Amino acid sequence: MRRCLFLVALIFASLPLTAQKLAATPPMGWNSWNWFAGKVTDADIRKAADLMVSSGMRDAGYVYVNIDDTWEGKRDANGVLHTNEKFPDMKALADYVHSKGLKIGIYSSPGPQTCARYEGSFGHEEQDAKTYAEWGIDYLKYDLCSFRDNMKQAYPNDPDAQDKMMRDAYMKMHNAIVKTGRPMVYSLCQYGFDQVWQWGPEVGANLWRTTNDISANYNSMMLIALAQAGLGRYAAPGHWNDPDMLEVGNGKMSHDENISHMTMWSMLAAPLIAGNNLTQMNDDVRSILTNRDAIAIDQDKLGKQAERVFSGDEIEIWSRPLSDGSVALAIFNLSHDRNVMRGLKLPLKQVGFANGAHARDLWAAKDLGMIKDTNAFTLPTHGAVLLRLTK
Ligand code: GLA
Repeated sequence: MRRCLFLVALIFASLPLTAQKLAATPPMGWNSWNWFAGKVTDADIRKAADLMVSSGMRDAGYVYVNIDDTWEGKRDANGVLHTNEKFPDMKALADYVHSKGLKIGIYSSPGPQTCARYEGSFGHEEQDAKTYAEWGIDYLKYDLCSFRDNMKQAYPNDPDAQDKMMRDAYMKMHNAIVKTGRPMVYSLCQYGFDQVWQWGPEVGANLWRTTNDISANYNSMMLIALAQAGLGRYAAPGHWNDPDMLEVGNGKMSHDENISHMTMWSMLAAPLIAGNNLTQMNDDVRSILTNRDAIAIDQDKLGKQAERVFSGDEIEIWSRPLSDGSVALAIFNLSHDRNVMRGLKLPLKQVGFANGAHARDLWAAKDLGMIKDTNAFTLPTHGAVLLRLTK
């Protein structure tokens, strides 16, 4: 009995450690959904892996190549899930991705169906986790989808019981993954219901979506970004708030809008999961995604997510402390038609630099010397400035 208790204690004590090791800093990679949606194929994933290497993305830290929804086929007589015709051999695909020095991710739902109405993992959690492990999968995005219907059917008038059922479903898959013995980053996708940031770590999550789906435009991106205020204290090495995948390079976002997007996600210690069409990535998009200084802010080992320091007159200023004692300060111009900032004082005192700070402008790759709170920056419409401040 005592030995048994000791073993149980040991397993529980080692869980957070595993989580920390797996996602000591926010996971970085690429996911098929934002560009390919339901059209993604084995060939697209191989090509994405090739391009992540040749574009320099892998060496900048983007290591996960994640297949989102629509890879799923049918279950056989034993309940084992197979791929559909778009993915003829998942094990071979995983081997290929691994041979490039990358890792591979997959997608499922706790419900009977995924959001795109493919086969989900409901009632087959252990079996599916085992299948993923046999294929060599390193990352699972687990998307609520049809499980919401199950929750509503089981407890029509009891939202608390529905929430508990949801948490249990996420725990169940976590246990199934642990049982395989193969480490897999565990990504919760349930759009922030039931304040997931409060219980995500308990169900083994390495990241959890905090909002609805992002779209490839500035308003959607900024709406999600601003909704992250106040969530900073829930992020830490091992488990992160996920404001959704990057749209840098998608839609009609301008250079400055892409800069704002990458700046905000780096400030938020957000998982950096690119979602653009790598076969048509231009140099501008590549250099934004692979900017070493922005990535270093995102990946800072202290793991402290930024919070808002100032908001007003269509300006947002956010800051986060970094492990070497410096501070990242980001200024965003939300205005659709004005370059700013006129007459605005930089909140240097609030972020620990009452007597001014030495500043480096990370996007301009330029040392600015000592700056005072009266320093003005010209920010293009929808643009951002990202500073690293030291004493
Ligand atoms: C949901 C998720 C998206 C994507 C799709 C796939 O909408 O939020 O990120 O995974 O499902 O169907």
